[in-house]
Amino acid sequence: MNGDASPARQACLAVSGGRIAAIGETGEARETVDANGACLLPGFIDCHTHAVYAGDRSDEHAARLGGASYEEIARGGGGILTTVRAVADASERQLIDGARPRLATLLAEGVTTIEIKSGYGLDLANELKMLRTIRELGATLPMNVVSTFLGAHTIPGNHSHESYMDLVVDEMLPAVAAEDLADAVDIFVENIAFTIADMERLFAAATGHGLKLRAHTEQLSNMGGGARAAELGASSCDHLEHLDEDGVRAMASAGSVAVLLPGAFYFLGETRLPPVAELRKHQVPIAVASDLNPGSSPINSLLACLHMAATLFRLTPGEALLGVTRYAAQALGLDNEIGSLEVGKRADFCLWEISAPELLCYQLGGLRPLAVYKDGQRVIHEQIFMDNLNG
Ligand code: NIG
Ligand code: FE
Repeated sequence: MNGDASPARQACLAVSGGRIAAIGETGEARETVDANGACLLPGFIDCHTHAVYAGDRSDEHAARLGGASYEEIARGGGGILTTVRAVADASERQLIDGARPRLATLLAEGVTTIEIKSGYGLDLANELKMLRTIRELGATLPMNVVSTFLGAHTIPGNHSHESYMDLVVDEMLPAVAAEDLADAVDIFVENIAFTIADMERLFAAATGHGLKLRAHTEQLSNMGGGARAAELGASSCDHLEHLDEDGVRAMASAGSVAVLLPGAFYFLGETRLPPVAELRKHQVPIAVASDLNPGSSPINSLLACLHMAATLFRLTPGEALLGVTRYAAQALGLDNEIGSLEVGKRADFCLWEISAPELLCYQLGGLRPLAVYKDGQRVIHEQIFMDNLNG
């Protein structure tokens, strides 16, 4: 994943102190593992999720199957606000217990880093509850958990647009920063949510707190949010089905990553494809994530989304694989640490018993790595593999 996704035949990879110490050199080691010809890939990175939530929205799914749109449901007080009510009723303990199996499921398919956003709290206490939940998951699971403050997800019913933005910027953000509960901020720029002016204000304040910047843009309409977010230094712009070529150009010159979310496209039955040809033409790095959430992407599988990135968005298998490794790391601003097998990077990797990495974009379902390593420690392994190793 060092720029392209073609496999290299290396005799060995050495780990020391949780990091990759050498590649291709053989020598003495305290412990050796014979991979038996298995394929070694970087741990996958799910760089955009809303994996902490309560309740489900299967009734809204049924309503959409009957013809209602995502926007109509949102404008009627459902959608994100349905989950906000469920989260308000849940304790931090219940949120942790609800999210844990989702994360464990991702880890078992080779995801060693996950980003999780708040945004179902929408008041100070509940946003902090969500972010503490995210930090607690990171402290107790063998995964790297990145936390994003998404107070600007939608406007709750008890606020005007202006008074809610004041709350987000003047009260929530300083409290989040004071407790070091987030690594980045995010905002949903859309006609049913926030404006570009809101994003400018939020980003200025967040930069002052040393937070990285992300944005949901051009998901349902083209508002120019992607171009502006990129200019302001957003490490990624996410969704982007409605992004135009000017937006692509702005992202290219600012070096912002395009995070594509084929799960939401699929689940909402969208028909407008993200501008993959333009992204390629202007060499915008493309990441792929699950967007795991109860409303637009109840898909607890990054591998399913990797598959959809190829089948629905026509990414090449190499592009899709780079999208859940190298460029996902870049979207999180962690490309010096993770996302590829390079000396000095964290020893987060998985062994796969597959003929070639492309198989992961081809087969849907039934795929699991033989072993998952996080910081050089084996955190998950298949017993069959261990039995083979032991003789
Ligand atoms: O990424 N676009 C806004 N946020 C989420 C959906 C959240 C929800 O519907 O609960 C998304 O698609
Ligand atoms: Fe999202």
